[in-house]
This record gives sequence, C-alpha cells and structure tokens, in this order.
Amino acid sequence: METIFSGIQPSGTPTIGNYIGAMKQFIDLQNHYDCYFCIVDEHAITVPQDPIKLRQQTRGLAALYLAVGLNPEKATIFIQSEVSAHAEAAWIIQCNTTIGELERMTQFKDKSQKNGRTGVSAGLLTYPPLMVGDIVLYNANLVPVGDDQKQHLELTRDFVERFNKRYGQANQEILVLPEVKIAEQGGRVMSLQDPTKKMSKSDTNAKGFISMLDEPNIIRKKIKSAVTDSTGIIEYDPENKPGISNLLSIFSAATGRPIEELATAYAGKGYGEFKTDLAEAVVELLTPIQERYHELLASDELDDILDTGAEQARLVANKTLQRMKNAIGLGRKP
Ligand code: TYM
Repeated sequence: METIFSGIQPSGTPTIGNYIGAMKQFIDLQNHYDCYFCIVDEHAITVPQDPIKLRQQTRGLAALYLAVGLNPEKATIFIQSEVSAHAEAAWIIQCNTTIGELERMTQFKDKSQKNGRTGVSAGLLTYPPLMVGDIVLYNANLVPVGDDQKQHLELTRDFVERFNKRYGQANQEILVLPEVKIAEQGGRVMSLQDPTKKMSKSDTNAKGFISMLDEPNIIRKKIKSAVTDSTGIIEYDPENKPGISNLLSIFSAATGRPIEELATAYAGKGYGEFKTDLAEAVVELLTPIQERYHELLASDELDDILDTGAEQARLVANKTLQRMKNAIGLGRKP
C-alpha cells in the first residue's frame, strides 16, 4: 500500500481554505493509503507564538482532525514535536540544501520582504527542509496539499533526487521520491475580502476568512460582506469574476454539488440569495464538526490517540533517520 503524509500548522484556527484544500482530501484518502497526518507545531514557531495559545491550538487542531472524520484506526495522527526524528532529519537536510534554494521560496521572499532580514527568524528560511524531513521520514509516495505548497514539494523532490544520488550505493535509493497531490477543485481558496489573495488563517482582517470554529452568525456575516462585483451575474470565471467564482467553489466544496450545476441553479438570481444559501451550506457543513470538536477536546480519548500516534510515527521515522545517518556516515556504527 502506498503512503501519504500531510501536515497543518497549529498557528491559528484552520480556515475553510485549509479544510477544502487539505483536510477534505485526507478523509477520503485514509481509506486507500497508509496515512500519516501531522500537527506541525515545529513549523508554527518559525514566527512568534504565544506558548499557551500554541499548546491549545495544537491540541485543538488534533481534535479538528478527528472531528472532520479522520479515523485513528485508519490513519496515524500525531504531533510533530513529539517525534524527535523531525528536528534531527531537518538538520541533515539543511546541510544538503543551499541557501540559494531556500531564498528562492516565495513564502520566504514574501515574509522577509515585509519584515526585513533582521525581522524574520532563521527558521523561516530553513522551514522547507523541516517540511522535507516530515515527508521523507515516512517514505511518503503522495502528499496532499493546497496549491501554495507546490514549490515546497518541488524542493522536496529535488532534495530526494540529490540525496539518493550523492549517498545511495549501487543505485539503491535511501529516500522515497514523493508526488504532490493538489485538490482538483479548491486547491486555492481565496480571501473573502480580496479574492486575488489566498485565504489565510493569519490574515489580520478576520473578515477575509471563515474559521472552522466560527459561529453560524459570524459565518453569515462574513459571507454577506464577501467582495463580489457589480455585474450581478452568477457565473464561474476566476479571471474576470474572482469573488463570485471563489464563492461558487466554496459552495461546491461544502455541498458536493458541481460548480456548473450551482451556476445553472442560480442563473438569474441575485447575489443576496446566493450568499444566503451559501452561508447556510457552510453552517450546515461546520456545525456537526464543531459539535464533535468540543466533545473531543473535553475527552481523554484525544490524548490517548495522540500518544498512540506518536508511538507509531516514531517507529517509522526513526528507521528512516537511521538510514539517512548511515548513508552519510554519522555516528560510529550503522
Ligand atoms: P498550512 O498550515 O499553511 O496549511 C495547511 C494546508 O492547507 C492548505 N491551504 C489551503 N488550501 C486551499 N486554499 C487555501 N486558501 C489554503 N490555505 C492553506 C495548505 O496548502 C496545506 O496543505 N508547510 C505546510 C505544512 C506542512 C506540510 C508538511 C504539508 C509542514 N510539513 C509536510 C505537507 C507535508 C503549511 O504551512 O501548511
């Protein structure tokens, strides 16, 4: 059976962008692959985090993984910092990656341009090698992510090819070369306030995103104030009508109804009616998830699942780490 790895940062409450681009894919994939779904708290500390909040968000994200339907009997669910192989592998990977490669990452460029070189941590630059480590440690064949992670996956593939070539013997591969898997639809959910920008959980304008834990009335308000255009025509045309197209793809992801069907159903109707129905669809999607989330947070079940997950993850990750160390000659014996 092929293996899947993916992770989400506990750097805030996940948005419906994270749900549509990532989590929603995970639910189906867990039935067909050996899956590892991680809460990547070490990634979250590349930018300043409040320690108490970080812990809450880490546990909260684990609860959300389960609440959306991930099943610990089928998938290994764990917290990155509870498996020390991640930080160790990241070091080896950094030493086999050039600064040039890392400075080319658009996420780094964006953030360092905004804050200057003295305003961002070194970890923000070396963050992609940590992500490469996550993926290779579990021998992942496939990595389901949103569109914004594509470049990091390219870096991962380059690294694996280089590492295998440099250290593999007699064409024996040390690490598995992964493929990226982007959702056919919803790989890039856009901000409700600026539909040319990605929806992000760290947006300073909370009206730009719908958090998975937003209350129904907040969801309704945010959708009502979503930026559209003045034509009043409901059609899918991301180039010219990014706002309404984004809402159509959220509607489709929330209900499973194809975009074309929705566009036909709402042809000739106003944006107001469309937004009201969309808001109800999102409320209907999130309400049962939120109920289950609150139950899980209050239970011991969650910690048991995470303990078992970390144990299972360590077994696999430590084996790969040892293989990497052997290949490059770290330590005294293989
Ligand atoms: P993160 O935490 O920013 O986002 C988690 C997942 O959600 C996807 N995503 C989106 N998809 C569609 N539309 C959006 N607006 C949107 N915003 C976010 C992301 O693409 C991602 O799949 N570096 C990663 C986490 C990570 C990881 C990994 C992923 C660490 N190690 C190994 C895969 C494999 C990140 O910051 O994702």
